[in-house]
Amino acid sequence: MNISKTTVDNIKDRIDIVDVIGDFVTLKRTGQHYKGNSPFTDEKTPSFIVFPRNQNFKDFSSGKQGDAITFIMEYDGLSYTEALKYLAKKYGVEIEEEEQTPEAIQQQNERESLFIILNFAKEFFKTTLWETEEGKNIGLSYFKERGFTDETIQKFELGHSQEQWNALENEAKSKGYNPDLLEKAGLIIKKEDRQYDRFRGRVIFPVHNTTGKVIAFGARMLTNVKNQPKYLNSPETEVYHKSNVLYGLFQASRAIRHLNNCYLVEGYTDVISLHQSGVENVVSSSGTSLTEQQIKLIHRHTKNITVLFDGDAAGIRASLRGIDMILKEGMNVKVIIFPDGEDPDSYSRKLGSMDFQVFLKENYEDFIHFKTRLLSDGDENDPVKKAETINQIISSISIIPNQVQRALYIKETSSLLKLEEQLLYAELNKILINRKREQQKEAYNTRPTELVKEIEEAQQKEVQDSVEFQEKETIRILINYGFNEIEDKYNLVEHYLEELDQIEFINPLYNQILEIFKTEIQKGNIVDIHFFNNHPDKKIQQEVINLTSERHEISENWERYQIYVPKEKDVLTSSVYSNILRLKFHKIKKLIALNLDELKKEKDSDRITELQQISMELKKAEAAFSNPLGIVVS
Ligand code: GTP
Ligand code: MN
Repeated sequence: MNISKTTVDNIKDRIDIVDVIGDFVTLKRTGQHYKGNSPFTDEKTPSFIVFPRNQNFKDFSSGKQGDAITFIMEYDGLSYTEALKYLAKKYGVEIEEEEQTPEAIQQQNERESLFIILNFAKEFFKTTLWETEEGKNIGLSYFKERGFTDETIQKFELGHSQEQWNALENEAKSKGYNPDLLEKAGLIIKKEDRQYDRFRGRVIFPVHNTTGKVIAFGARMLTNVKNQPKYLNSPETEVYHKSNVLYGLFQASRAIRHLNNCYLVEGYTDVISLHQSGVENVVSSSGTSLTEQQIKLIHRHTKNITVLFDGDAAGIRASLRGIDMILKEGMNVKVIIFPDGEDPDSYSRKLGSMDFQVFLKENYEDFIHFKTRLLSDGDENDPVKKAETINQIISSISIIPNQVQRALYIKETSSLLKLEEQLLYAELNKILINRKREQQKEAYNTRPTELVKEIEEAQQKEVQDSVEFQEKETIRILINYGFNEIEDKYNLVEHYLEELDQIEFINPLYNQILEIFKTEIQKGNIVDIHFFNNHPDKKIQQEVINLTSERHEISENWERYQIYVPKEKDVLTSSVYSNILRLKFHKIKKLIALNLDELKKEKDSDRITELQQISMELKKAEAAFSNPLGIVVS
């Protein structure tokens, strides 16, 4: 079915976003807009804002934003069409369906009938499990032996298939179902001379799509028959594309959104056991490696993934690449390693619900940190291996889209590997530049002007972001350590202000704070956290609070593993040094750009010579600064 354009317009005309969201979130009016607690996170102070004027919302704690339709999609994990249907119902708009081509209608009908036959099969397998002697004695007792409760078995709609060639087929025929559909749904296998049920003598795990319809089955053998796979799965069908599906997502989606995290496990039974232990935000890729579509599916609900690894090292190393794909999606990845020989299923049963949940809460580790630790083990005396390790870790970091996050990881990695940040930046830049070249090549080959412009804009934005990040670093260091002595000579503040004499920050807020430092220092005042405590400008006050609490959270993780991270105070001199270099480096880059602009426009030949002279000087300066920073000037 397709909702017509007129209907969509009608719905949009009637929607009032405050009313739509008001059904789910308590909103309070403040001036032009409405405020409430984010429904996507567990926040205590409201940062979820609804703007009636442009009919949009923005959630500052999860970053989600959009119109009323987006809200319903996000809040209930619905598709666009499903969200429209919900809103049509709410506002009493009659849904008019669009003329569809006969092929489209037929395809639609075929999908519908597949859903119906799959649902029939699921019910048949359930009845077999609960009501036949074979089901009860073999399938049900197997599940019970694995510790599954009746409630769990019902929740996942588990079933049993008889040890017979045509049990399902015969039942379907007697109920009047078209046998062709059974084959299209992957339930029976047709050979030239005979046909038979695909799943026989196995316990059945139905696979649901995100709206809860059964689209496929996994079936586990019960006895250890040789030459038989442990699990049989439905083949690809019109309604089942394996790479687009995650087992357990239907049962998990609400919990994932609510807890803002998704556990990723390997198998069907891991998902089910975790549910039974009270952990419901869990999905499985069912034994295959994770695909980009599957990651995007999770991303619809949360930015945070925690990967649970069985305690065997081989599997972990094989999975590292797959995890890079999650980083590329801009998501945060943590890992939990289970003790040797245990998987989430066995371990949750061993510990019991309470202790298992505590285990999950206390044993996660940031992925980059974990990877660094894993790969660098035994590197100390092997420079070749160490270089390889650095390359692999920096390549993971380079995939992260957010520049600030990349910079933080470089910092952490630098302490962990006891390597200069500059060296890591050099490696990072090498990788980034190579990748950009590849992209540019591709862009030039496809759609020149548009894409090239996009890339240029992205590059500019990146420079801008990184300048602002350095500015933020400066302010942060000044506030936290400004009155520490540096090299027994001056206060850090004096040192900075001397170095930054000519520099103006591009971020207005940081520039404002910098100006405060300049004036107050001249008056001989001490400017630290306490100074800003009662600052009349709320924005400045808030930013100072952020800057003085942030780092603490970041390093906490590391200490949990008894890994010594130098306290920032200890390495202050080198932080300050590279921060100042970076600021100046960016300043020079900006001057180079301005100089080029002027050169392009200038007509007077004397002035042009002069500008060219300046340009050369600037280039020299750029090279001089880039060297100690380990930046490759392209
Ligand atoms: P149990 O052995 O019952 O605990 O199942 P499990 O789900 O823990 O299985 P395991 O850890 O051996 O494998 C993880 C996942 O890989 C399973 O859930 C299946 O999705 C998949 N898998 C395992 N064995 C096979 C197989 O023989 N064939 C196929 N197609 N998939 C398999
Ligand atoms: Mn298992």
